[in-house]
Amino acid sequence: MSVALAPSLLSADFSRLGEAARACEDGGADWIHFDVMDGRFVPNLTVGPIVLDALRKVTRVPFDVHLMIEGPLSKLDPYLDAGASRVAVHVEAEPHLHRFAQHARGRRVSPGVAINPGTALASLDEALHFVDFILVMTVNPGWGGQAFLEGSLDRVARLSEMIRSSNSRATIAVDGGVGPGNIGDLVRAGARHFVAGASVFSSGDVPGSIRRLREAAGSASSLRA
Ligand code: DX5
Ligand code: ZN
Repeated sequence: MSVALAPSLLSADFSRLGEAARACEDGGADWIHFDVMDGRFVPNLTVGPIVLDALRKVTRVPFDVHLMIEGPLSKLDPYLDAGASRVAVHVEAEPHLHRFAQHARGRRVSPGVAINPGTALASLDEALHFVDFILVMTVNPGWGGQAFLEGSLDRVARLSEMIRSSNSRATIAVDGGVGPGNIGDLVRAGARHFVAGASVFSSGDVPGSIRRLREAAGSASSLRA
């Protein structure tokens, strides 16, 4: 059973994003995670499609887009045009999740739904059946480098049970405060995709940090097998 790692550029040096993207590729990242924030759904304001366009020229790594914005369906197409391979919108921000998933699939992009720490997992009951992944926020969205929230492991385990008992094929992705110290527990709880910002970019050795994360996850999954 393998895991997928998506370094979040939010914690990279924004004056050198091209180098950061290439370092993710050197480290074997499965995706590059773009945190799109509109200053309304979350207080922070970050990047738009123009940054994906620019980085498309410097790396072959697929793009994983996390839309922390209001009305994401109405703003989706420029990210699809810019080469997103998968996109997560927030269950708290999009009333038309099924139409979002249909539209993304129509553009051959994998649809996911993100859920904030304070939102009931039950709000995913229907989406479990028509999206590819659930992005479980293990920090309150808006910034990188935050601490992994207490109780997140239990949420992942409960979601894993919901997926199993409802015959959903959705994969659990985790986003926020992920590092070598907790990724093993998250694998054992049922998560398979991991976003990591600070734990990848704070050390100065991006490829090495990605490899260490994968090793920590791999040892847990071999135990789980
Ligand atoms: C937070 C973002 C996360 C964050 C992850 O709103 O969605 O992707 O950048 O970064 P770390 O791993 O530093 O929490
Ligand atoms: Zn994110």
